[in-house]
Amino acid sequence: MIEKSLECDTMKILVVYYSRSGHTRRVGETIADMLTCDREEIIDTVRRSGPIGWLRSGYQNKKKVFTKIEPLKRDVSGYDLVVIGTPVWAGTASVPVRTFVHQYRDDLNKVAFFSVHGGENVQDEFNEMEALCGKKPVCLLSFSGKEVKNDSYSAGVEQFAKNIKNLKGI
Ligand SMILES: Cc1cc2nc3c(=O)[nH]c(=O)nc-3n(C[C@H](O)[C@H](O)[C@H](O)COP(=O)(O)O)c2cc1C
Repeated sequence: MIEKSLECDTMKILVVYYSRSGHTRRVGETIADMLTCDREEIIDTVRRSGPIGWLRSGYQNKKKVFTKIEPLKRDVSGYDLVVIGTPVWAGTASVPVRTFVHQYRDDLNKVAFFSVHGGENVQDEFNEMEALCGKKPVCLLSFSGKEVKNDSYSAGVEQFAKNIKNLKGI
């Protein structure tokens, strides 16, 4: 089912994210609220909760494998900009987000990326996502899980949303 979309000023924006433990979801929802735009969570069909899920996720990420995600409800190709959010796993993008970018790369117009890490981030997730979709992101944003937990991420999200709203040529 294709859902009806909201418009942010004149450009259509979709925020898409995967979150295993809630941090990336929180940032993604805040970005979408600030941009008054559509949002959709990537749903993985593989179980990733608990210690076994953690180990499976880490192992799969080291191997750079893909997973089976549920088809998105929204038509990604209908958006001028897709903002893609991932937790950092083993220094790069998470398996479900890697899968999304790979699977939907031909449907993506402009892209922006955000990530949430556990404290050690070299932003390789952004390089990987850029290489996978073959597009340079118009904006980047990254937080630690601690910043999300203690609510010190809002100013960063506000600036990110402002930068997106100021984009010309979308
Ligand atoms: C399998 C796995 C691997 C991870 N690897 C890293 C890592 O390499 N560097 C890092 O800073 N955090 C790492 N983390 C921590 C997550 O990036 C961090 O907890 C993040 O806030 C999770 O986002 P989420 O709540 O949206 O799932 C890893 C977490 C998991 C589950």
